[in-house]
Amino acid sequence: MNTAIETNTATIVEPTTEPALQLEHVSYSYSKGGKRVLIDKNYAFHPGTVVSITGPSGAGKTTLLSLLSGLATPTKGRVLHNGEDLAKADRYRFRSHDIGVIFQSFNLLPALTVAENIILSMDASGKTFDRPKKQIAAELIEKVRLQPEYLNERILHLSGGGQQRVAIARALSYDPQIILADEPTGNLDLATQDDIMGIFKDLAHAEGKCVIIVTHSPEVAAQSDEVFQLAPLRER
Ligand SMILES: Nc1ncnc2c1ncn2[C@@H]1O[C@H](COP(=O)(O)OP(=O)(O)OP(=O)(O)O)[C@@H](O)[C@H]1O
Ligand SMILES: [Mg+2]
Repeated sequence: MNTAIETNTATIVEPTTEPALQLEHVSYSYSKGGKRVLIDKNYAFHPGTVVSITGPSGAGKTTLLSLLSGLATPTKGRVLHNGEDLAKADRYRFRSHDIGVIFQSFNLLPALTVAENIILSMDASGKTFDRPKKQIAAELIEKVRLQPEYLNERILHLSGGGQQRVAIARALSYDPQIILADEPTGNLDLATQDDIMGIFKDLAHAEGKCVIIVTHSPEVAAQSDEVFQLAPLRER
């Protein structure tokens, strides 16, 4: 159906959201002529949406995240960021400005404090900030529902759930458009898992972020707006 609306003065075309990231006939093999891990994948990831990527172990979920985050380029097909081929873009800039990645292993520096870990990634982005970085770190800590007294605590004194919150705060520190997370609720109890999903949903629905989560958890998948399921390799 056409969404153009006729008025007396002008024709208003309702905005259709462009995908933030898009897979276009994407295939991937780790070695030349080797087994294809991903075959002809197509998907559009939109702003304002939480998408779960699911599938059994070995289906290619982490591989897909490395293509979406610009760490690897497809063997065939293209990954588009706001319509532009990521393979031809400045991928360092893309990784440090446009996407926040939350790794399964957190990749936090354990001997540094919560604030120091967050500020380090703000520095690496090369962005300029309109408020002191420590103040932004404190605001982010509140956003991920970690108690303020943890700001100056070393990472190694935090629980797994606490570290997960810091990893999310760090990914948000330079305000990226896209959030990618590999098993962000993997080792957490159900209540914490729900709370972390609440944070991701707020980021998508209230702030218009494009949130992409790899998960094994049926509860997490059920709470997302869309599920992109990868079939086991042997069924392809
Ligand atoms: N660096 C690599 N070199 C060669 N093959 C790899 C490499 N990394 C992954 N693979 C293979 O690619 C396939 C997909 O792996 P991937 O890690 O993407 O799966 P996954 O869906 O993330 O699995 P899991 O749920 O266990 O994390 C597997 O067969 C794996 O053995
Ligand atoms: Mg994986």
